Amino acid sequence: MSNAQIIDGNALSAQIRRQVKESVAALRLAGKPVQLTAVLVGSSPAGQMFAQRQGQACRDVGIDYQLLSLDAGASAADVARTLDRLNHDPAVTGIMLHMPLPPHLDGGALRQQIQAIKDVEGVTPTNLGLVAYGQPLNAPFTALAAVELVKSTPLPLRGAEAVVVGASETVGKPAALLLVHERCTVTICRSTTRDLAAHTRRAEILVVAVGKPNFITAEHVRPGAVVIDVGINRITLPDGTKRTVGDVDFDSVQAKAGYLTPVPGGMGPMTVAILLRNTLQSAKILAGV
Ligand SMILES: NC(=O)c1ccc[n+]([C@@H]2O[C@H](COP(=O)([O-])OP(=O)(O)OC[C@H]3O[C@@H](n4cnc5c(N)ncnc54)[C@H](OP(=O)(O)O)[C@@H]3O)[C@@H](O)[C@H]2O)c1
Repeated sequence: MSNAQIIDGNALSAQIRRQVKESVAALRLAGKPVQLTAVLVGSSPAGQMFAQRQGQACRDVGIDYQLLSLDAGASAADVARTLDRLNHDPAVTGIMLHMPLPPHLDGGALRQQIQAIKDVEGVTPTNLGLVAYGQPLNAPFTALAAVELVKSTPLPLRGAEAVVVGASETVGKPAALLLVHERCTVTICRSTTRDLAAHTRRAEILVVAVGKPNFITAEHVRPGAVVIDVGINRITLPDGTKRTVGDVDFDSVQAKAGYLTPVPGGMGPMTVAILLRNTLQSAKILAGV
């Protein structure tokens, strides 16, 4: 069997960012704000770097970006007050709270304070609930990115057998719901699943969001399957160098799958593009267009 076709997340993401840029320009021409405010608590180098990249991605498509940095010792009430102020600020059309938060703060609870319409990550209970109803406002962006990558392949989703490995609220569960909405037959596997491979080998669509490097190997994969690797894991090689790998063992799986996302270059750029598209979506709804 020939090697899987690699799904090019960079190319697809560039296409989405072009469309977002055009729509942002049109909104601006109509005098409507398109603005993302990111709240960062503490000043970890990883958080700063992420915010810097995110700011650049926004500016590249014409979205105004503001970073609000709170002290690492900020209380839950401080963060909640900040989010409340942003919820009520008409110049702010999108809000995100950078994770992880310092250990004394409950990220899940604080994220719920973001007004659903400004929740560009799609992580509030309202937005997750709307996905369950098949009427998403802003769907969880990582899950949406995974499903967009599946849709970029020639595989018809209607009636397809889909297996999602991972059941988190931000990735696995919403990805499964979005696939249900696409009329797939969906199975969710998690840490307690007995005989994982028996499930994954049925999958025409396999979405993997586990957080374990190279966890899914060729033996888990149905020949010709579409495999979406959501995982991002930093590993140290025997020679001491560091490398980013996914949850899918790329080398073995590419010999068996039909379509496969690489890490990096698959989900990463797509999540950025979908976050920008969600930000546009929030601005459009707030502008009433
Ligand atoms: N590409 C991106 O932009 C992006 C964005 C977000 C996350 N990620 C990456 O995606 C991965 C998953 O993220 P997450 O936030 O969903 O992680 P998470 O909250 O830790 O959830 C991991 C899930 O994997 C399941 N799991 C653990 N061990 C398993 C096993 N042996 N067999 C089957 N399922 C197992 C867990 O099951 P239980 O629920 O039963 O414990 C859980 O549902 C991570 O590598 C993360 O870095 C990437």
